[in-house]
Amino acid sequence: MIIDIVTIFPEMFDGPMSTSMVGLAREKGLLDLRLHDPRDHTEDRHRSTDDYPYGGGPGMVMKPEPVIRAVRAVRASDAAPATVVFLTPGGEPFTQRMAEEFSRLPRLALVCGRYEGFDERSLAHADREVSIGDFVLTGGELAAMVVTDAVIRLVPGVLGHEGSALDESFADSLLEYPQYTRPAEFEGARVPDVLLSGDHAKIAAYRRRQAIIKTARVRPDLLAGADLTDEERTLVARVLEGSEDR
Ligand SMILES: C[S@@+](CC[C@H](N)C(=O)[O-])C[C@H]1O[C@@H](n2cnc3c(N)ncnc32)[C@H](O)[C@@H]1O
Repeated sequence: MIIDIVTIFPEMFDGPMSTSMVGLAREKGLLDLRLHDPRDHTEDRHRSTDDYPYGGGPGMVMKPEPVIRAVRAVRASDAAPATVVFLTPGGEPFTQRMAEEFSRLPRLALVCGRYEGFDERSLAHADREVSIGDFVLTGGELAAMVVTDAVIRLVPGVLGHEGSALDESFADSLLEYPQYTRPAEFEGARVPDVLLSGDHAKIAAYRRRQAIIKTARVRPDLLAGADLTDEERTLVARVLEGSEDR
């Protein structure tokens, strides 16, 4: 998969995009990460990418020409056709489902804003606008890294154990069940007996129940998309009314 990142701070990507799974994906040739600097598409001596907002107001706005030219250069390159995503706090919320969708693309371009954001005319060049959450970052670079990380681990061959992404939080609209590793007891806290039983059916039933309880407690909004049996719906109701323990 090709991921293009349009950013005026390409050096920010050095460490995070060379480490762990993303770094490994690049080494294995599963991710071709390409950085593009809008400053290379400026014409003035200072390579300016910002200017004052028309109509006044605080801060600066990202100039349209360098951004649009950089996006055009990505689209015009002869590798696979790119889906161009502008990162903005006002975009569609980024979700696991969107990460799955993006992971099936041959090429994804992530465009990072700075200052007070993009000139509206730049946004006309987006296929999608995406937000990583209801908060405001200084720039789109961290958001681009978040999206890259979440997407690339879903590309076959990256994790090395494909089942793990299917079993995680947000798969089936549920949060993940609690995980334990050795030792079986630490400072008096014991791993639940069922997980030591070797009975795979009982373990699966325990994990599903725990996932439902946790989701009902912490993120009941997710349950609208979950495929639950009548018995599981009763469990949810009991958790919500506070009558279900564990
Ligand atoms: C300081 S922000 C601009 C915020 C803008 N003035 C607003 O109120 O929506 C600068 C850049 O950071 C990026 N950014 C900030 N928060 C983000 C978020 N939650 N998701 C995605 N990108 C974000 C965007 O690229 C944005 O253009």
